[in-house]
Amino acid sequence: MSVKKMSAAESGGVSKRFGNEEYGDYILMPGDPQRIDTMAGQWDQGAKKLDFHRGYRAAVGLYQGTKIAAVSTGMGGPNLESPLHDFAAKGVHTFIRVGTTGAIQEHVNMGDIIINDACVRLDGTSKQYVRDEFPAAASFEVTMALVQAAEKLGFRYHVGTGCTTASFFAGQSRSCFNGYNRPYAELEMRELQQAQVLNYDMEGSALFTLARIFGVRAGMCASVIAHRITGEYFDDGGIERACLVGAEAVHILTDWDSQKRVRGKQYYVPSFSVSE
Ligand code: URA
Repeated sequence: MSVKKMSAAESGGVSKRFGNEEYGDYILMPGDPQRIDTMAGQWDQGAKKLDFHRGYRAAVGLYQGTKIAAVSTGMGGPNLESPLHDFAAKGVHTFIRVGTTGAIQEHVNMGDIIINDACVRLDGTSKQYVRDEFPAAASFEVTMALVQAAEKLGFRYHVGTGCTTASFFAGQSRSCFNGYNRPYAELEMRELQQAQVLNYDMEGSALFTLARIFGVRAGMCASVIAHRITGEYFDDGGIERACLVGAEAVHILTDWDSQKRVRGKQYYVPSFSVSE
């Protein structure tokens, strides 16, 4: 995949924000800056960690010999916009959000991995880029790589639509401090459930929409740490599993992209592996 590189001036000088470290072409994007340590701990020895202003953190290294990087994006679309914009401008072509999420379907269990291939756009950030009818869709290649990674690792996972909100409390139909409850909150969640939406998060649709506009690939996997039907809220190790799925997906995509180059193809198709 070829992406036009911008100079620092063209990208508003923002690429300085993340230094000149060699990040490679594939970046994992956790929200929580502490997840950088979890990720780097799963990679080959020698991963290098970096701290940036405003609490952004990054790591660069190798996973099973494949170049990999991770940059934390904080909470919500506005925080994700800057690293996505800056690294796309530097020529990075693939971004994988590795997040946490709240399930809204009964058949999804705590600790499961959700791979969102599309998200409902209640994020706010993407609205400032393009009209509401524009879809928030993941790259099919990144989604397939995440599925293959979850299969290989033997983790329980689901693939489907998420809903990205600009608010954790009212936006995700939660009761708020001081007794505030949107009267239509319950109805909104019920509508999403009936439309087979699996989960709530706060970054997915901003990532998918902006990545599509910037001409780069994006995908997302998230571990279920909240269940909106049972009321549970905990991490049973799902965060570490999601980080591993992300790393494995980078390993798989790196291989698929090299197969595409050898064959002179723009897109990966599963029959490449069958005809090996
Ligand atoms: N992240 C969210 O956005 N919502 C949840 O319920 C849990 C994690």
